[in-house]
Amino acid sequence: MTKANRPPARLSRRSFLKVTGAAGAALAFPTFIPASALGRDGRPAPSERITMGVVGWGMQAPGNTDEFMKLKDVQIVASCNLDKMHLKKSVEVINKFYKKKVVKTYHDYRKMMARHDIDTVMIAVPDHWHELVSVEAARHGKDIYGEKPLAKTIGEQQRIVQAVREHARIWQTGSWQRSSGSFHKAAEIVRNGMIGKVTRVEVGLPDGHTDFANTGKFTQITKPPGELDFDRWIGPSRMQPYIKARVHMNWRWNYNTGGGQLMDWVGHHLDIAHWGLGFDLSGPYEVEGHGQFPPPEAMWNTATQFRIEMKYPNDVRVTMAGGDDDIKHGVKWIGADGWVYVDRGKFDASNEDWMDIKELPDDEAKIKLYRSSNHQRNFIDCVKSRQPTITPADVAHHSATPGHLGYISMMVGRKLKWDVASEQILDDPTASRLMSRMFRAPYEDW
Ligand SMILES: NC(=O)c1ccc[n+]([C@@H]2O[C@H](COP(=O)([O-])OP(=O)(O)OC[C@H]3O[C@@H](n4cnc5c(N)ncnc54)[C@H](O)[C@@H]3O)[C@@H](O)[C@H]2O)c1
Repeated sequence: MTKANRPPARLSRRSFLKVTGAAGAALAFPTFIPASALGRDGRPAPSERITMGVVGWGMQAPGNTDEFMKLKDVQIVASCNLDKMHLKKSVEVINKFYKKKVVKTYHDYRKMMARHDIDTVMIAVPDHWHELVSVEAARHGKDIYGEKPLAKTIGEQQRIVQAVREHARIWQTGSWQRSSGSFHKAAEIVRNGMIGKVTRVEVGLPDGHTDFANTGKFTQITKPPGELDFDRWIGPSRMQPYIKARVHMNWRWNYNTGGGQLMDWVGHHLDIAHWGLGFDLSGPYEVEGHGQFPPPEAMWNTATQFRIEMKYPNDVRVTMAGGDDDIKHGVKWIGADGWVYVDRGKFDASNEDWMDIKELPDDEAKIKLYRSSNHQRNFIDCVKSRQPTITPADVAHHSATPGHLGYISMMVGRKLKWDVASEQILDDPTASRLMSRMFRAPYEDW
């Protein structure tokens, strides 16, 4: 089936509830949740809950799912994975939480998305799969909690934004720092002009490669393990032989599937930098990246050290770096009258009065930034209210794009001019081509 002749988005269960009322809803509810389970554990009856399918079960999905399971008005009903061991683990964890068999399993996410009784999906798959899975979800009328960075390339990000808009979906990005008090406070101080006009921002990210899965020593080409559908796992990316060290969790260090530390973190710290600057839907007009790379054929070939210098509107200069001692991990805004620094578990500022307050007093915060104290709760609330989440798709797109541009600049070895409005690299056809990638057959028409 080509993208052009795919079916239109189907009616979501919630729209179904609206048109059919409760009787229809009961009929629409999946049979694998017994009617006898209605209203137990002080939760709303299953027919009243927001149903969710999860895609992926590695480093991030279990934590996200745990937070969703804790919400009484959410019911996880499905899990999808290309690795049978991961799928099995997800089923064990989810069924154990609910103390009953609630999860239906899927190998192919398209079958899960086609279910009419699933309202929402939580997608935590490697970056090279984000676009295909997310667009399929949007087309089938699901609201989506999707991970950062928005996608593997700028072009894939654009397709997600377009699909979310076209199908009027609610989207929350896993850029959860926005739902954390200290990041909110820091951004609100900056946004309210309390450090004066901001001239410079330093965004420090990690460097090197981290062996998350403890598989770094498995560098030989071998047969993929029986439990993993490796061909599908590589999916739209270029086919490469199976090397254990390049698959689960450590895929992010291979440019075929991930974008290294830069793309792993840009959706966290640059996202926060933009928030403070009021640049959620803006971006740099000039980007110059320099970095150090292992040889392209190395097992892990993403940049081990990088420094991206960017010029933004209003004479703001942003440096985003990994591995440079002068740029501390976290976000530091420097203004004419002071500075603010924030990182996970850390806050510092030129004004001591800001250290111990939880948030700016009302009379000082003329501009109130969106407040959420629970990222998953915020998503579900927005699914119900149909209001934007704290990290919608277009914001995630603008947060991750400077990372992609920095990477492209490093690859072509020159400064790029970027037009935010038209989302184009100017006067550089070679760099422009790197805004997207060829999908391996048959995924272009998947
Ligand atoms: N928000 C955060 O703080 C945070 C932290 C870590 C990772 N992440 C993001 O979460 C995403 C997943 O990262 P991870 O580290 O958990 O990866 P991982 O390799 O640990 O897990 C990915 C899972 O997806 C499965 N999978 C891969 N392709 C699939 C497909 N097409 N269909 C179904 N299942 C598929 C894998 O088998 C695996 O279970 C990435 O985008 C990453 O950037 C976010």
